[in-house]
Amino acid sequence: MAYIDTKKIKSDFPIFGNVPEGFAYLDNAATSQTPCFVIDALTEYYTKHRANIHRGSYALAEEATARYEEARERIALFIGAEKEEIVVSGGATLASNMLILMLEAAHTYRAGEEIVTTVSEHHSLLVPLQELAERNGMVLRFAPLDKDGVVDEKAVVKLITRKTRIVAMSMASNVTGAVMPYERAMRAAKEAGAIGILDGTAYIGHAPVDMTTCSADAMFFSGHKMCGPTGVGILYMKGSLMKRLRPVFFGGGIVEEVTKDGARCTDAPYKFEAGTQPIAQIIGLGKAAEYLSGIGLEAISAHVRELVDYARTELESIPGVTLYAAPAEKNIGIVSFTVLGIHAHDIAHIAVEEGVALRAGHHCAEPLVRELGVVATVRASFYVYNTKEDVDALVCAIKKAQRVFT
Ligand SMILES: Cc1ncc(COP(=O)(O)O)c(C=O)c1O
Repeated sequence: MAYIDTKKIKSDFPIFGNVPEGFAYLDNAATSQTPCFVIDALTEYYTKHRANIHRGSYALAEEATARYEEARERIALFIGAEKEEIVVSGGATLASNMLILMLEAAHTYRAGEEIVTTVSEHHSLLVPLQELAERNGMVLRFAPLDKDGVVDEKAVVKLITRKTRIVAMSMASNVTGAVMPYERAMRAAKEAGAIGILDGTAYIGHAPVDMTTCSADAMFFSGHKMCGPTGVGILYMKGSLMKRLRPVFFGGGIVEEVTKDGARCTDAPYKFEAGTQPIAQIIGLGKAAEYLSGIGLEAISAHVRELVDYARTELESIPGVTLYAAPAEKNIGIVSFTVLGIHAHDIAHIAVEEGVALRAGHHCAEPLVRELGVVATVRASFYVYNTKEDVDALVCAIKKAQRVFT
């Protein structure tokens, strides 16, 4: 059953008119492409409403502010949050670092206290957690993965004890596509009085989410992985956490009064948005959320799962290919693999000649790739505009690499 009219969807993305016919863009986990709907909103801001926000009282400034705040509302709606729970940031990495610094500033962490996470985390979450642990003498505990790359639900719950201060994990892996039992882990964190953090970067915009019913205290993601512009991300925090945290970045736009002795900050979420924000980008991200909602997150997820299923079947039938990908029903749209006797980078290189864009390496999740027992994988990642023909092109590229290298 076709969940998505890919021909129609593809025509929304001007880039596909500017690349050779049949080009298979399978590097969506690195960044997605941008539809006209978003590009037009960026152009409109720059050509009709450009001004800084929350400052001027002239028409342009009011228009820019209105569009910025509309985007905040639209993004909140998209993830089932309140607009006051949405903090604009420069991307997932910045949001993750900022959150961890704010938690450290607001709490007294003691030696021997624990952070529960998983081996499949992206460096943008794992490394700040490691740094936090090192500064405070805390201990990182890693929940194991099952054979599909999914975090073992019972094991993660068991790791969470009275010593646990933070439970932090991705909603889906950017290497194996595995969708994690994040709600169970976040609930266990809450019951233990720990802060629950989710990295939604590989997940948001690819499957439906409702933060109102999710037990996580905080979640972050990047706009560019969900058809939005680069340079923008969101830090979602539940109101209760927001109230307890103080900003770690200070500057214009977040202070109500500054004297020689000190400053008084505005209310959340504005107090976390120091300096001129990525205005055009957030407007674009709001439009990306609107665009994806128009297609339907259930339909996007079903479409991508169909492609994962097809890719898994086709790749499994090639001798020498080893898959590192969760089964379709537990997969956000990512299939990693290796080919016996051929380096991952050589596969990606040959694929370029065949018009297939892939990524090779450790995908900024080095501990996971090591755990898989390899130094690098090739990663094909799917999104709303991909087709079975893209998978066929990938299969041709692998077979060509096998002819060339073995
Ligand atoms: C799961 C995951 N988390 C975080 C990030 C970091 O995102 P950004 O580079 O946009 O800050 C990525 C990017 O690849 C990712 O895949």
